[in-house]
Amino acid sequence: MHLELLHLLERVRSRNPRVVVLTGAGISAESGIPTFRGSDGYWVVGSRNYMPEEMATRRMFASDPEEVWRWYLYRFGACRHAEPNLAHRALVDLEATLGDRFTLVTQNIDGLHRRAGSSVERTHCIHGDAAYVRCANDCGIGVQPLPSINTPKIDAELSPETCERLKCHNCGAWLRPHVLWFDEYYDEENYRADSAIRAAARADLLIVVGTSGATNLPMQIGTLCLRQGAAIIDVNPEANPFAVIADRAERGCIVRGSACENLPEIVKHLAIKPE
Ligand code: APR
Repeated sequence: MHLELLHLLERVRSRNPRVVVLTGAGISAESGIPTFRGSDGYWVVGSRNYMPEEMATRRMFASDPEEVWRWYLYRFGACRHAEPNLAHRALVDLEATLGDRFTLVTQNIDGLHRRAGSSVERTHCIHGDAAYVRCANDCGIGVQPLPSINTPKIDAELSPETCERLKCHNCGAWLRPHVLWFDEYYDEENYRADSAIRAAARADLLIVVGTSGATNLPMQIGTLCLRQGAAIIDVNPEANPFAVIADRAERGCIVRGSACENLPEIVKHLAIKPE
C-alpha cells in the first residue's frame, strides 16, 4: 500500500470516522458482471434492437412492457449467477467494525452487496435492486421480490405463464423492475436519495469504488464531501471524475487499481483500533 494512502488512513481512523462508501459497477466486475460502459458493458452491447437508454425507461415500458421485461430478465440472469467478491465482503467487515458510523451507497442493482451480508438499513440502493418489483400502477403493494422466472433467451418471447407472473396480484397491472429508469428521478421512498445525501454531508471519509461518474446523485455526493472537507479515496483502474475530486481534496488519494486488489487492504487499515 502506498505511503500516502497509509498516512491518510492512519489519520482518519484515529478520529472514529463516519465513513461513506459509494460503489458502482466496477466493484462487481470481478464477480463477472459486465460494467455499463466498459468494452463489454451492458450499455455498449445493448440488446437486439435498442440501446439501453431507450430500453431502461418508463416510456419504453409503457409502450412495450414485454420487450422491457425480456431485456431485464435476460440481464438479471447474469446477476443471479454471480457471487459476491472480496471487495463486497471487505465492506461487510468494515460495516461490522464501524456500525452506525458506516453507510454504503450503491448504484448497483445486482444485489451482490446484500448477498455478501451488507445490512439493508445501512445500504442505500440509489438505483434500486433487480431482485425486486413494484406495481407499475403504483397501487400500493410496495416493493416485492421478483417472482421466480426462468431467464429467457435474449430473442425468446415471454411465455403467457411468465407474463401472468409479472402482473400485480392486487390490481392486475404489469409489475415493473424496482430500478431507477433514465427518464425518472431519484427519490427517498424508492431510492433513499435524501438519506444518501445526509450521510455524505456528515462523512469524515468517502471511499469511491468502481464508478465512472456518469450519474447525477453520485457526483453530488462526491462534490458535497469535497466541499465539507471529508477525506476522499477513489479506487478505480481508470481515470474518472471521482479521481479528480480526490485529487482536489485536502486529504485525498487516488488508488489506480481494482476493487478486489485494494479494498480489503484499505478496510484492514481502517479497522485497526487506535492506540
Ligand atoms: N475495480 C474497480 N473499478 C473497476 C473495475 C474493477 N475491477 N473494473 C472496472 N472498473 C471501473 C471502470 O474503470 C469504470 O470507471 O468501474 C467503472 C464502471 O463505470 P460504468 O460502467 O459507467 O458503471 P457505473 O459508474 O456504475 O454506472 C453508473 O449508470 O447506466 C447507469 O444505472 C446505471 O448504475 C449505472 C450508472
